[in-house]
Amino acid sequence: MRLDCLPIHKHQTSKMKKVMVFIFLLCVTGIGVFWREDISLHFLPQDERPCACDQCLCEDGLLQNFSKFAEPFLSVNCNLSNDDFNWWRRIQNEKHNYSYYKTTVDKIFQMLPASADVEPPSPDRCRTCAVVGNSGNLKNSHHGPLIDSQDIVIRMNRGRTKGYEADVGTRTTHHVMYPESAVDLDNTTRLVLFSFKIMDLEWVIKAFSTGFSGSSYMPIKSKIKANKDLVMVLNPAFMRYVHDVWLQKKGRYPSTGFMALVLGLHICDEVHVFGFGADSDGNWSHYWEKLQDKKLKTGPHPGDEEYGVLQKLAQRQLLKFHKGS
Ligand SMILES: *[C@@H]1O[C@H](CO)[C@@H](O)[C@H](O)[C@H]1NC(C)=O
Ligand SMILES: *[C@@H]1O[C@H](CO)[C@@H](O)[C@H](O)[C@H]1NC(C)=O
Ligand SMILES: *[C@@H]1O[C@H](CO)[C@@H](O)[C@H](O)[C@H]1NC(C)=O
Ligand SMILES: *[C@@H]1O[C@H](CO)[C@@H](O)[C@H](O)[C@H]1NC(C)=O
Ligand SMILES: *[C@@H]1O[C@H](CO)[C@@H](O)[C@H](O)[C@H]1NC(C)=O
Repeated sequence: MRLDCLPIHKHQTSKMKKVMVFIFLLCVTGIGVFWREDISLHFLPQDERPCACDQCLCEDGLLQNFSKFAEPFLSVNCNLSNDDFNWWRRIQNEKHNYSYYKTTVDKIFQMLPASADVEPPSPDRCRTCAVVGNSGNLKNSHHGPLIDSQDIVIRMNRGRTKGYEADVGTRTTHHVMYPESAVDLDNTTRLVLFSFKIMDLEWVIKAFSTGFSGSSYMPIKSKIKANKDLVMVLNPAFMRYVHDVWLQKKGRYPSTGFMALVLGLHICDEVHVFGFGADSDGNWSHYWEKLQDKKLKTGPHPGDEEYGVLQKLAQRQLLKFHKGS
């Protein structure tokens, strides 16, 4: 378990830390490596339900193999460890050093809220989540109403609803993106920035102010329409945690979709997953476009590994995987 950004006193014993993490985060979940020894469960009173769902993510046997990440989002007080920074800077060959990173993050928090607005878990809450990927298997799925009926609806990258409402729904509470995949949002949707390099952090600052003029491996929106009071920035250490713990270091780094899924397991009590994987013909495409490339290409991401973990989670009923058509 990684505790880099945990807001508790450094001298607490590690056991105490675990209790604290558990109390503060209850069901903030991550799946522990399946075979790993449990960490914090012995401290949960038997009669204390961590959430109000029929089954909580971190209950009973299921909980046994869970580990949790304390701070999925950056906040003004969150210090990235050098080690995590060095992991992160390798994923896209970052040239800048830690102090440059730190300066940039400080600038971000002059503009954005000091911490991400994440409601803590509670015994009387059953907050449900739809994590909506962009797979062509959403076509003709008629999942729209089911997606819209979840409390939180997380979409990603160029995911859209207009024209596809019956299959993908209409609501978006959180939209995950990085500069190269950015789209405009309405003013009630949270922009969740997945930053893969320092330039991505600089982008968010400029895109909300004077406009961004840097270049990347593809064109980038200079300005973005979104509510800047609702921006949340993923903690780079969370990316590493997903890579290490959930994917056992397969591939170079996890895909946006997979990280969004693990994030869903951290901020919700019940998670429904849509639009992941291939369609029923085994083709990979987006629901809004005609299939162009029949070959699955997942680049630096371990696509098969990710899909395997998703299926395992579904088998263990840690989430509900709606396969679509
Ligand atoms: C948790 O992991 C242990 C091995 O460490 C395994 O025996 C047990 O079945 C796992 N529990 C669940 C619910 O997966
Ligand atoms: C982060 O680092 C700064 C100084 O570098 C320090 O003042 C602050 O207390 C640290 N925050 C945490 C949560 O460790
Ligand atoms: C970090 O990089 C900046 C230039 O971006 C440089 O001025 C500074 O000296 C570097 N700091 C360290 C500790 O290497
Ligand atoms: C959001 O946008 C609507 C119309 O587009 C406007 O009426 C409303 O005041 C805006 N809310 C905020 C918080 O900016
Ligand atoms: C899926 O792939 C198969 C064979 O590769 C092809 O015949 C079929 O037309 C594709 N489906 C779509 C919807 O493009």
